[in-house]
Amino acid sequence: MVLFPLIYLLTGDQVDRGLTLTLKGSITMEILALVGSPRRLGNSELMAKEISRGIPEPHRLKLVRLPEMHIGACRACYTCLFDDRTCPQEDDFPPILDALIRADAIILSVPTYLLAANASLKQFLDRGLSLLDRFEELWGKPAVGVTIAGIPGMEGYTKLCVDSALRLIGAQLKGSEVVYGALPGEVFMSETNRNIARRLAKALFRPPPDWQREPWRCQACGGDTFRFLGPDQIRCMTCSSPGKVRTDEGHISFSVDPPEDHFFLSLQGARHHVRWLQAMKQRFAEKKKDLKRICLEYLRDGEWLEPRRKTERAKTDS
Ligand SMILES: Cc1cc2nc3c(=O)[nH]c(=O)nc-3n(C[C@H](O)[C@H](O)[C@H](O)COP(=O)(O)O)c2cc1C
Repeated sequence: MVLFPLIYLLTGDQVDRGLTLTLKGSITMEILALVGSPRRLGNSELMAKEISRGIPEPHRLKLVRLPEMHIGACRACYTCLFDDRTCPQEDDFPPILDALIRADAIILSVPTYLLAANASLKQFLDRGLSLLDRFEELWGKPAVGVTIAGIPGMEGYTKLCVDSALRLIGAQLKGSEVVYGALPGEVFMSETNRNIARRLAKALFRPPPDWQREPWRCQACGGDTFRFLGPDQIRCMTCSSPGKVRTDEGHISFSVDPPEDHFFLSLQGARHHVRWLQAMKQRFAEKKKDLKRICLEYLRDGEWLEPRRKTERAKTDS
């Protein structure tokens, strides 16, 4: 009985999540693994399960195989930001969102397809505007990311997709690794990747990494992928902060200057972004006539290849 107020106080801080929920004993944490591979018992699934095995805190592992879920493409109707704030599509997105909200921590494990993350991750992420209304509940969940690639060095920008996906769902990234293995199960042909999984497992409920000790990373978010905008100007591709690159005695370092209320870096920023998006409705109403005139000028250009379903429908209709 005495334990409850203490636990209640502690649960506010996600770093303490593991500790407090373990103290509760009867209440088990839920770890949600989003797996981006269609292959059953493939490397993405094995890595997610191995991480779960290595998490010291007692928990229940829930899994979502993204490619087998029916997630409709975002129709850019913006209904989720207005009116009743729900997406009009009836598919598997809402149960995934509920599972994300319920989860105490997240594992995202995704294979490389043609140098990028398997499309199931983007299909899910493209519905992300409907996450914004639930950001208070999603914000700050500890998360780790895994990128799987079949050929060493051929992961392309998959890790960037994984890291930015976790940022976009409001998670707090505690670690992200690339592992290699082509055949199902090949990731564990050697001990190296099991050790990586164990490291990620231990990192999940620890305090976030100190980026200052790794100056080659974005100092705002820990990202390790940059776009060069000039001889010394860069932009972090994970959190979008602008900055500068320096070399000092042969070592490079990045200093970034994140804008105030930056969407990716604080809950405040995420709220600010929602307000900005909502204000676009008013702007659209004001500019509608001008915009329509611009668009209509292009109405008759070119010939569209019709989707097969549409052509077949037209034939049956006639
Ligand atoms: C369509 C397709 C494209 C792929 N493209 C790449 C690639 O660009 N780079 C790479 O290293 N591996 C590539 N792979 C290999 C997979 O990333 C690899 O087999 C991985 O282990 C799959 O993970 P899974 O077992 O979880 O499905 C590709 C595999 C498929 C099916």
